[in-house]
Amino acid sequence: MPRLSCIVLLLGLSSSSWAGVTVQVPGLTVPASYASRLTDAQTLFTTSYAAYKQFAFGHDDLSPVSKSFSDGRNGWGASIVDAMPTMVVMGLDDLFEEAVNFTAGIDFSKSKTGDTVSLFETTIRYVGGLLSSYELSGEQFPILVTKAQQVADKMAFAWTGTHDLPYGFMNFATNKPTIATSNIAEAGTLTLEWATLSKYTNNVTYGNLAARSAKHIATLAAPLPGLSAQGIDPTSGNAVGSYVTWGGGSDSYFEYLIKYARLTNTADTTFIDTWKTAVDSSIRTLLRNSTVGNHLYLADFDGTQIRHVGSHLACFYAGNWLLGGKLLQNQTIIDIALQLNEGCWNTYASTVTGIGPEAFAYISSDGSFTGGSAPTAAQTAFYNQHGYYITSSAYIQRPEVLESNFHAWRITGDTKYLDRAASAIDAFNKFLPAPAAFAGLNNVNSANGGLIDDMESFWFAEVLKYLYLTFDDPSHISLDEYVFNTECQPFKAPPALDAYTGSGTLVPAKPFKAQSGVVPQFSPLSKVARPQ
Ligand SMILES: *[C@@H]1O[C@H](CO)[C@@H](O)[C@H](O)[C@H]1NC(C)=O
Ligand SMILES: *[C@@H]1O[C@H](CO)[C@@H](O)[C@H](O)[C@H]1NC(C)=O
Ligand SMILES: *[C@@H]1O[C@H](CO)[C@@H](O)[C@H](O)[C@H]1NC(C)=O
Ligand SMILES: *[C@@H]1O[C@H](CO)[C@@H](O)[C@H](O)[C@H]1NC(C)=O
Repeated sequence: MPRLSCIVLLLGLSSSSWAGVTVQVPGLTVPASYASRLTDAQTLFTTSYAAYKQFAFGHDDLSPVSKSFSDGRNGWGASIVDAMPTMVVMGLDDLFEEAVNFTAGIDFSKSKTGDTVSLFETTIRYVGGLLSSYELSGEQFPILVTKAQQVADKMAFAWTGTHDLPYGFMNFATNKPTIATSNIAEAGTLTLEWATLSKYTNNVTYGNLAARSAKHIATLAAPLPGLSAQGIDPTSGNAVGSYVTWGGGSDSYFEYLIKYARLTNTADTTFIDTWKTAVDSSIRTLLRNSTVGNHLYLADFDGTQIRHVGSHLACFYAGNWLLGGKLLQNQTIIDIALQLNEGCWNTYASTVTGIGPEAFAYISSDGSFTGGSAPTAAQTAFYNQHGYYITSSAYIQRPEVLESNFHAWRITGDTKYLDRAASAIDAFNKFLPAPAAFAGLNNVNSANGGLIDDMESFWFAEVLKYLYLTFDDPSHISLDEYVFNTECQPFKAPPALDAYTGSGTLVPAKPFKAQSGVVPQFSPLSKVARPQ
């Protein structure tokens, strides 16, 4: 009925013309000259997934150098579940149908590799992948919700007694959590997935548990206003240590404060107020310019001193501030976010491979303290050329720099971001090829530093989806219609409000006293670093 659909279309258009804050440049299109890049991104995916099917199907990760597999995510087939939304986005229907069939048979009642299950990793990869692909495929496969609910029902035991905060790890054999210090990323990166699960199961408990945890963190006294300490003790509910960072162990807690406000349009102002306060306090306290090249970064704060460090993981901050700056309609935040994005992109632009390192450091007008050793002569020479120096040289197929680049493209429409994404595709095709598909690199600043024998599930979920969407029609998976979880899994958002203001005030500073305890050490090889 063309007439009816025409009316529906007109109604849709007219309502969107008065409704809500917009994030993307209206009417943005990708110039035709970039059409081959969309295909390039899809080919990276199909090549990688074909190798995964050949050598690792049903396991968590492909080992692309040894043509084998590994099971670091409980052996439930993490790459399949995490890749499903990308298959739908790319229109790879046969692969998707096969993946749904596989998923229907996963037994989430027990882990295949030891009994310990990470609440955080399982939420962002498995629950996120299942629910996002359920939505993106038009709610045709209810089994995807059933499976998400099965694994979440086990993870719900991570909240014990009346505690607001969950423990970070669960034993699936006993349904008992591992009683240990956790971090704000583990406890505060659950709201998008668990709220979405509540929506499709009509059980409000999931969303309530996750929101209660995030709110608990937001209302604790913090070392800097809005910037909670990284460590947290679920037993006492208190902060552990006083380390502040936008990097691993904290990152996606901050990310989700603004995204949860957008996904739910909640009237609870805690989330927006805390995000605004965290950003404001970061601008006042953590922004640092390098003495060479004037690159902008967000430093860490260890409770006493600024640490002049940065990381691939933390580079999501530029994209997150662009999204939040648009929602809050705050040009100051947007302008700083674009400069932060330049600093992160410089870590790609200045290496031999054109790919950025896992961790780096720099010198600013207030010094060079990093909490680690002073730069070597070689690091100093690199710094004098590039305005940062490499402290961990690996590339483990992380997405964050390309994630921020994607946001910068959709939010500004400047085609330099398309050129950057294209150069990343070329770098991947030149330096990552392995005996089977694509591997990580030991050293981004060497043409022959050797490959890392692991293809992470977030290569499928994040890197290749962000690259593809950068070159896709911007009205497909628009930032005005979807909110991405920290694994790049899109969730459908309600129409935007006319304004996102929170209560209009910042969260006041509260006297903070560092609690002693074992400050968690972070492994560089997880999605968001987790305690050893
Ligand atoms: C998925 O399973 C259904 C039902 O068993 C079957 O008809 C279909 O061919 C399968 N699809 C794929 C791609 O394996
Ligand atoms: C909702 O989910 C929670 C968490 O798994 C569970 O304990 C509770 O029984 C569920 N409620 C209903 C009505 O099914
Ligand atoms: C925009 O954000 C900056 C940084 O937090 C803040 O100083 C400023 O007051 C905000 N502007 C408005 C209009 O809220
Ligand atoms: C960094 O340098 C830019 C350009 O000179 C300047 O606008 C900005 O205020 C500086 N920021 C900081 C934190 O020093």
